[in-house]
Amino acid sequence: MSNDNNQGFSHEKIEKNVGLMAVLITIAVSFGGLAQIVPLMFQAEAVDPLPGVKPYPALELAGRDIYIREGCYNCHSQMVRSLRFETERYGHYSLAGESVYDHPFQWGSKRTGPDLARVGGRYSDEWHRAHLANPRDVVPESNMPSFPWLENREIDGVQLAANMRGLRKLGVPYTQEEIDGAADAVADKTEIDAVVAYLQGLGKAAPKGG
Ligand code: HEC
Repeated sequence: MSNDNNQGFSHEKIEKNVGLMAVLITIAVSFGGLAQIVPLMFQAEAVDPLPGVKPYPALELAGRDIYIREGCYNCHSQMVRSLRFETERYGHYSLAGESVYDHPFQWGSKRTGPDLARVGGRYSDEWHRAHLANPRDVVPESNMPSFPWLENREIDGVQLAANMRGLRKLGVPYTQEEIDGAADAVADKTEIDAVVAYLQGLGKAAPKGG
């Protein structure tokens, strides 16, 4: 490299000084990150629920908590991407306004099994019960684990009401009646009733079409 070129010389100085290079890279990446992330934060605050998107009724919320407890998200995403082969298989791609009451959201990216964002109404309740008890009874080649214990376990209504109060603090508009009625709504239900109700509600308020 020629030494009579001043610009070339200063660039060479940066390239040969790892510490200086690291500091300058950090500054450059921070600016890029801020420019991308900060506008999204303000946009997220402004996202309204899509028409028809309501806070989960007590039984579905209980099902969602079981879904998280059992780690269903390790194999199932709930986010249809805007790619043609996805919208043809699952339906309309996911929109932020569908998940405003999900804390935490279940979008994910791990798909050992199919995406579940639009699974509501695709199968009967009986199909889901049989499938959760032993997936191979209805899908012989399935490698999804069985969840037979869901059939016998009762739901803790007091805990559920507490969860609803917590969600209300995060901005989910549960009414006092809904919270007071939570324990009654799940009194004679088992965990499998809750998971099936949750699955059948998924994607119900999604826009129609691909
Ligand atoms: C180890 C990975 C794994 C876990 C954990 C898992 N699944 Fe699955 N799931 C699969 C696979 C693979 C399939 C596809 C074969 C089948 O239908 O059984 C599937 C299919 C499904 C389907 C049918 C979807 C469709 O469109 O056909 C539903 C509903 C479902 N799983 C719900 C659940 C629920 C609820 C849980 C948690 C209680 C769960 N899964 C946990 C792997 C998993």
